[in-house]
Amino acid sequence: MWNAELTCATGRPKPSLTYIMRLDNWLNEGRMDLGIRGRKAIVCASSQGLGKACARALAEAGVSLVINGRNRLLLDQTAEEIRQATNVDVTPVLADISTQEGQAALLAACPAPDILVNNNGGPPFRDFRDLDRQALLTGVTMNMVTPIELIQKVIDAMRAREFGRIVNITSVSVKMPLAGLDLSSGARAGLTAFVAGIARSVADKNVTINNMLPGSFDTERLRGGFRASAKHTGISESVIAQRSQQMIPAKRFGTPSEFGQTCAFLCSVHAGYITGQNILLDGGSYPAAF
Ligand SMILES: NC(=O)c1ccc[n+]([C@@H]2O[C@H](COP(=O)([O-])OP(=O)(O)OC[C@H]3O[C@@H](n4cnc5c(N)ncnc54)[C@H](OP(=O)(O)O)[C@@H]3O)[C@@H](O)[C@H]2O)c1
Repeated sequence: MWNAELTCATGRPKPSLTYIMRLDNWLNEGRMDLGIRGRKAIVCASSQGLGKACARALAEAGVSLVINGRNRLLLDQTAEEIRQATNVDVTPVLADISTQEGQAALLAACPAPDILVNNNGGPPFRDFRDLDRQALLTGVTMNMVTPIELIQKVIDAMRAREFGRIVNITSVSVKMPLAGLDLSSGARAGLTAFVAGIARSVADKNVTINNMLPGSFDTERLRGGFRASAKHTGISESVIAQRSQQMIPAKRFGTPSEFGQTCAFLCSVHAGYITGQNILLDGGSYPAAF
C-alpha cells in the first residue's frame, strides 16, 4: 500500500489525507509534536553556534524563521542548510543586532513574531581593570540593552495574540563567576533581573520569558577560546580542550543540538507554564542543589 500510494503521489490522483498524515508521522517518528507548526520566529545571531541550533530545532518543529548574522556567506549557507533540511521558510537578515537599524531590519522581515530568541556575541575575555567606559557600555548594550529593546518591540503584539515565547541565551556565568568574563556576567545578570518582573506581567496572556544558561558547548566561540589559550600558554588546543572537559561532571562539552532542542521545547505549547526561569545546561558544572 505504501508503494501504491507513493505511485499515486507521483501520478495523477492527489495523495489521500491518510497518506499525508502517515508520511508526516513517519517523518516525525520518535519526535514530540511541539504544537508550534506554522508559527514565526526571529532568532538573533543565528548563522552558527547556539543561535543556529535553536533556529534549526524550531524549523524541525515547523516554525518559519528569520535568522541573522553579520557575515553574508555564512548566513546564506545556514539559511539554505535549514531550508533544505526542514522545508520551512527561512529569511536571512544581514545585520548587527546590537544596532537600532539591525533590529529594525529583523522586525521588517517578521513584524509579528510568535517566538523571539535573543542571542548575541559576548564581550571578549578581559581583566576587568582593562575595561574602559566605552567597552563597558558596549558589553551592556550587547547582552542587556539589545534583548530588552527587542522584547519591548514584540511583547504587546504577543500579548494581544495570546501566544508568545521569548528565550534569552545568557550564560552559566550569571550564576557562577568566571574571572575575565565579568562584563558578560554582569550584563546578562542585569538582563535576567530585568525580565524577571516582565515575565510575571504577561504570564496570564500565554507569553513566557525564560533564560537559557549554557555552560561549555562545542561551538566556534568555545574553540576560539581554546585557540587563544593555546597561543598564550604554548599548550596544545586539544590538551586544553581535554582538561576543560575533565572539569565538567558530564566529562564532555554540550552539543549545539542539545541546546537547540531545549530551546524549541521552551517555545512549545507544552512549556506554557514555565516562565521567568533560568535553565542551566552545563553538564552538572554548577555545583549546587538550588
Ligand atoms: N558556547 C558556549 O559554550 C557558551 C557558553 C556560555 C555563553 N555563551 C554565549 O552564548 C552566545 C552564543 O555563543 P556561541 O558559542 O553560539 O557563539 P558563536 O559560535 O561564536 O556564534 C555566534 C553567532 O552570533 C553571530 N553574531 C555575533 N555578534 C553578532 C551581532 N552583533 N549581530 C548579529 N549576529 C551576531 C555570529 O555571526 P557573525 O559573527 O557573522 O555576526 C554567529 O552566528 C554568546 O553570547 C556566548 O557568549 C556560549
